[in-house]
Amino acid sequence: MSTDVFLQFESEVRSYCRSFPVVFSRAKGAEMWTEDGERYIDFFAGAGALNYGHNPDAIKNKLVEYLQSDEIVHGLDLFTGAKRTFLTALHEKILAPRGLDYRTQFCGPTGTNAVEAAIKIARKVTGRTGIFSFQGGFHGMTLGALAATGNEYNRGGAGVALGNVHFMPYPHGFMGSFDSIEYMDTILSDSSSGYEKPAAMLLETVQAEGGVIEAPVEWLQRLRALCDKHDILMIVDDIQVGCGRAGYFFSFERANIVPDIVTLSKSISGYGLPMAIVLIKPELDKWMPGEHNGTFRGHQLAFVGGAAAIDMWETENIQQQVKEKSEYISEFLTKEIAPLDSKIEVRGIGMIWGVDVSKLDDKGVADKILKRCFDAGLIIESAGRKGQVVKLLPSLTIPVALLKEGCEIVKRAFTAELG
Ligand SMILES: Cc1ncc(COP(=O)(O)O)c(C=O)c1O
Repeated sequence: MSTDVFLQFESEVRSYCRSFPVVFSRAKGAEMWTEDGERYIDFFAGAGALNYGHNPDAIKNKLVEYLQSDEIVHGLDLFTGAKRTFLTALHEKILAPRGLDYRTQFCGPTGTNAVEAAIKIARKVTGRTGIFSFQGGFHGMTLGALAATGNEYNRGGAGVALGNVHFMPYPHGFMGSFDSIEYMDTILSDSSSGYEKPAAMLLETVQAEGGVIEAPVEWLQRLRALCDKHDILMIVDDIQVGCGRAGYFFSFERANIVPDIVTLSKSISGYGLPMAIVLIKPELDKWMPGEHNGTFRGHQLAFVGGAAAIDMWETENIQQQVKEKSEYISEFLTKEIAPLDSKIEVRGIGMIWGVDVSKLDDKGVADKILKRCFDAGLIIESAGRKGQVVKLLPSLTIPVALLKEGCEIVKRAFTAELG
């Protein structure tokens, strides 16, 4: 299992493979195998792109059938049967039952491109340039999305000034006791505050890369009301915690709010195939033809996978699965991990959970725990400020036995490190 070729030929920008320096060859459900046949349980799920696990048969069969029939694979934004099937499934099974009326924009197939498109249309419609983003938020690596991303290390890679975004306090930590909604209301109402009214507020309802930080329902509802009051668009970036991850198909459902614009990517194709979409309220869909385009904005296999994934969401009652497994993870972390040290903080919702070890004296402890997990056969990553939150992100369909096996590895790693 040589890694020489990667070390010799691949750019230094590579990252996850540094944490998991083996060569993977096969994967199924929540398990992965290396070329040498070593098996790993996957608690990372392609950073949230594999909510339905690796190679789920229900989706794979549809993809194989599609390829076998020589249907069109690359279609720019042409009308195709695959696109019709996906749009119909999205509208009939996801949007309409939730009373959501959105147009779907297909953009370049990365999350960051969806964020770019969302910001652009918000600016175009309102005629304003500013965006309010939130401290700890993560929205992608291209310049517009990066400007709205808090992380210092990522921002440092831009090489140019990142502008037109103001970062507002997210309700967490010290800011949890600070009324950030009232603060925003004040600066938006004060003509001498120095802030111009932004085009949009851009947020994750659960900050994922930011360290698994869930905004309270009441805060989300007040933010929606604040946007209405000041005529500011609300963009929910549901790229990581959408598609069921937070316990509902859309993460904002728990707050019973309707954003003006929603970005989705990662698990929307169901199979880890590249796809990103922007959901836009019809009255805001002021794009001119091709004004935001991209060669790969019509990945037909992703449409096929996405439609099959929406079927799976229903037929396999994934929402209920998430509920049950979420309760298991919550209990496991609260009873088995949190008591190991009073400085540990456990957070999470649905199938995204974090163990925050940032208050421990050893600042490298999260990395050491991740390494122990990997050595014991578990793929798991960190998030948060300086990577000090061990993040559990298994597929939503992970069998309970594997979930428990993975949690046992987590427990052994924490105990060995903190004991
Ligand atoms: C909330 C959120 N927005 C945007 C992105 C960027 O997506 P991509 O890496 O596909 O560009 C991510 C990626 O992790 C994300 O978590």
